[in-house]
Amino acid sequence: MELNNQPMLEAVNLTKRYEDGHLALDNINFSVLPGQIFAMLGGNGAGKTTSINIFLNLIEPTSGEARIDGIVTHKEPLAAKQKVSYVSENVMLYHEFTAIQNLDFFSKIGGKTNYTKEDYKNVLLRVGLQEDAHEKRLKGFSKGMRQKCGIAISILKDSPAILLDEPTSGLDPKAGLEFVNLLNELKKEGKAILMSTHDIFRAKDNADFIGIMNKGNLVMMKTKEELENEDLEKLYVEHMSGYMDKVA
Ligand SMILES: Nc1ncnc2c1ncn2[C@@H]1O[C@H](COP(=O)(O)OP(=O)(O)O)[C@@H](O)[C@H]1O
Ligand SMILES: [Mg+2]
Repeated sequence: MELNNQPMLEAVNLTKRYEDGHLALDNINFSVLPGQIFAMLGGNGAGKTTSINIFLNLIEPTSGEARIDGIVTHKEPLAAKQKVSYVSENVMLYHEFTAIQNLDFFSKIGGKTNYTKEDYKNVLLRVGLQEDAHEKRLKGFSKGMRQKCGIAISILKDSPAILLDEPTSGLDPKAGLEFVNLLNELKKEGKAILMSTHDIFRAKDNADFIGIMNKGNLVMMKTKEELENEDLEKLYVEHMSGYMDKVA
């Protein structure tokens, strides 16, 4: 598809100092166009979740801003939220509801009231949730099955931007691969996708560009093309140790 060059997701000098003085994000800049996947790598505490939470307006930046389709998330939170869906590592769904009931509940909360049971079944099949699970309660589901419900809700919201915070962590390899294939389909539909992940190899296969975060800094940013003949794992280790040497 042809890329529109108006960024869908943008971090502009994004900085977050928590109330205890900890600088979790130090002047981060990036932008994601419709139809692109940006994967953020980085160790625990690097600032990945902090970045995503500012896009969701769960926290406010100290300075700088996050924009979704040009809307500054902490200035117009409701307008920004309409443009984005979110899948976290531990998808928050109702364990006592069936898969279909969860989809119906969250779609209606999101203002989509026209979906039929057939629509829900189709999207669950699309994300790879087997038919005999559609009417079962979530409490018996594996993590991978719950993640599929989370991404189904995100598809039904049909938002132009999708944020994923370590979506494949804890998934078995088959579920992880299915998840990544689904992200590629969403990308082809023109969604702008920002994901944090620890999965270096999948990020390299999947993302249009990759950032490495370390202690609140984006210490590396490269496109898929730039990474083609590079050993990303080695680069990752180098950027982690390089930064440690610099601050030591
Ligand atoms: N509410 C908070 N108050 C103070 N420090 C926090 C808070 N939330 C996160 N941090 C700190 O900010 C840094 C970045 O955290 P986080 O964004 O969760 O990193 P990541 O998702 O990359 O593991 C960490 O050092 C973490 O301890
Ligand atoms: Mg995190």
